[in-house]
Amino acid sequence: MSQISIISGKTSEDLAKKIAKKIKANLVKSEIRIFPDGESKITLIGTISKKRSIVIQSIFPPVDTNLVHILSLITKAKENSAQVDVVIPYMGYARQDREFLPGEIVTMKVLAKLFKGAGASKIIAIDIHSLIGLKYFSIKTENVTAIPDLVKYFKKLSLKNPLIVSPDQGGKKRAKEFAKELDSDYIALEKIRDRKTGKVKIKTKNLSEVENRDLILVDDMISTGGSIIKATQFLKKQKSKRIYVACTHALLMNNAEKKIRKAGVTSIISTNTIPGKTSKVDISNTIAKAIM
Ligand code: R5P
Repeated sequence: MSQISIISGKTSEDLAKKIAKKIKANLVKSEIRIFPDGESKITLIGTISKKRSIVIQSIFPPVDTNLVHILSLITKAKENSAQVDVVIPYMGYARQDREFLPGEIVTMKVLAKLFKGAGASKIIAIDIHSLIGLKYFSIKTENVTAIPDLVKYFKKLSLKNPLIVSPDQGGKKRAKEFAKELDSDYIALEKIRDRKTGKVKIKTKNLSEVENRDLILVDDMISTGGSIIKATQFLKKQKSKRIYVACTHALLMNNAEKKIRKAGVTSIISTNTIPGKTSKVDISNTIAKAIM
């Protein structure tokens, strides 16, 4: 048997299978039965390596259920393996990394304790919303970027002189990295979010440099689509040409994909950290490299 076991959570089955094949690891699948009261019964199928296990599971909706699943997988892995590394392709709760309003609980601090308590040796996240969230962990952490994989996809589209746009200042570094890989330039809009309602507004006024250019809006994630929709509406008013969206994690809640297209976006491209209609970019190679 291989020295490494990949323990696959239900949310990342395809990714786990691809990674196990790439690194020639033994794949351990999980079977889930949900009881009428909502509890999950998780059963692992396969033999876990005594040496090293790698648990792979994204924490997308239902977030709390999938969080319990990953903690359970880590607990079981630790009963068998000396080292348990945990790959979280999409880290739910990553946006709750600060006390924005008085009294708010910083849930990333809770996650840090839970993962350590369950027995994780190391956490590998992919394009986590912000690195602040990882600072609460007292075990090893690593953030791996999917930007080169996304850029590879866009290179094949052969867009003419596209401009990279971040919908907010927080994503400026990401846009810069994307632009560097694609050999293009970038800008970042000014976005404000009402912390109580969650609604967003674009504060940027006139922007002549987008006129008549194809744009790639780059973000770490799309949840409701609010940020991308507001940015698209603004950029269309500035007479841009086609608008593409590139993001690592496409949650696309509440019909967001349809709303984004209606706002004027030509195409949404995301990775398979969250499998779905837009996840055209496979990041199994990048994760496999990070693991080894
Ligand atoms: C915020 O800073 C993030 O980078 C995303 O822009 C945001 O979380 C996306 O959420 P939504 O799609 O709901 O606007």
